[in-house]
Amino acid sequence: MISRRSLLQVAAVPAAAATTSAAAPKNLVIASSNGPDCCRLAMEMLQAGKDTLDAVVAGVTLVEDDPRDTSVGYGGLPNEEGVVELDASVMHGPSRRAGSVASLRNIRNPSQVARLVMTQTDHIMLVGEGALRFARAHGFAEQNLLTEQARLAWLVWKQSLRDAGGWNNWAPGLDAPDPAPQAWLRERFPGATAEMLAWAWEVARHPPTGTISCLALNARGEMSGVTTTSGLAWKIPGRVGDSPIIGAGLYVDQDAGAAGSTGRGEENIRVAGAHTVVELMRQGRSAKEAVLETLRRVSRNYGDNLAKLGRFDLNFYALRKDGDYAGGSLWDANVTGSRRVRRQFAVNDGGASRLEDCAYLYERRP
Ligand code: GLY
Repeated sequence: MISRRSLLQVAAVPAAAATTSAAAPKNLVIASSNGPDCCRLAMEMLQAGKDTLDAVVAGVTLVEDDPRDTSVGYGGLPNEEGVVELDASVMHGPSRRAGSVASLRNIRNPSQVARLVMTQTDHIMLVGEGALRFARAHGFAEQNLLTEQARLAWLVWKQSLRDAGGWNNWAPGLDAPDPAPQAWLRERFPGATAEMLAWAWEVARHPPTGTISCLALNARGEMSGVTTTSGLAWKIPGRVGDSPIIGAGLYVDQDAGAAGSTGRGEENIRVAGAHTVVELMRQGRSAKEAVLETLRRVSRNYGDNLAKLGRFDLNFYALRKDGDYAGGSLWDANVTGSRRVRRQFAVNDGGASRLEDCAYLYERRP
């Protein structure tokens, strides 16, 4: 348990240096930590003179198509019924336009559908069945987005649920020859390694809210952004997080800067996080100050109660029009057992993509 005293001590620790200033706009792409490849491709497109929005959408498409990323697109973890539902939003700085989709099923690239909502309709947001019909009308192929890995995790989650008597209808019953927990899963998924089962157990107990957000600035000072996700694992069907909400999961203002978010969307929506970050940068704050101040508002919503705040994480990425940038997290690290992984974000300023440490509000104690 972290005491109030340790909160004050931690708050006094200077946040990690995660900000760089530049005098004039230059090609620059930042993304959440799952985005080094995304940043590389987006940078190549900026260097080839492509539009900033096309660059970031092409970048996140790599991740939406990658079944190994279980928080985005194809292979994303499903809702409580085992159905993958995707959310995404885009904003284009130069034209000041936006588009988004939410609860989209069967289409692996929601960011591309969001871009079409922006360019081909007089609306900003389409959801559910309407979003699917719109995607179909534009020639997107439908497919089952639930990979075997994601289905394994979903079944482990269902098996982890218990009624008051410790019973679960989704695990073998009294008459089963081997009642050992998870033995039937090993039988059902003989190819699953012990490592994969351990991962599935971890995401069953701690439903993740991974996502990718990517922001770009080009040498002409033009900016765009995209955020795309499969949302909270095991969510109630129809749950929409922050990613497709313009002003929460993403905001771009060509006059000031861009911001995106990953992590628990419910907390972000309550502070209109991405808009708040951009607004603070407009008022002259650095990207790092803007993300930390926005995180302080999230913390204040819980009266700075670290026990409650410790139950989730939230990350912001900020890119100012002058090239100043930062990533910021509520917590310094993700801790699983004895494993501690520092919160980072991806950056590409023209060479190879790299990961930089996020600034943060609080330190997780073992
Ligand atoms: N930030 C992703 C979500 O909460 O859905």
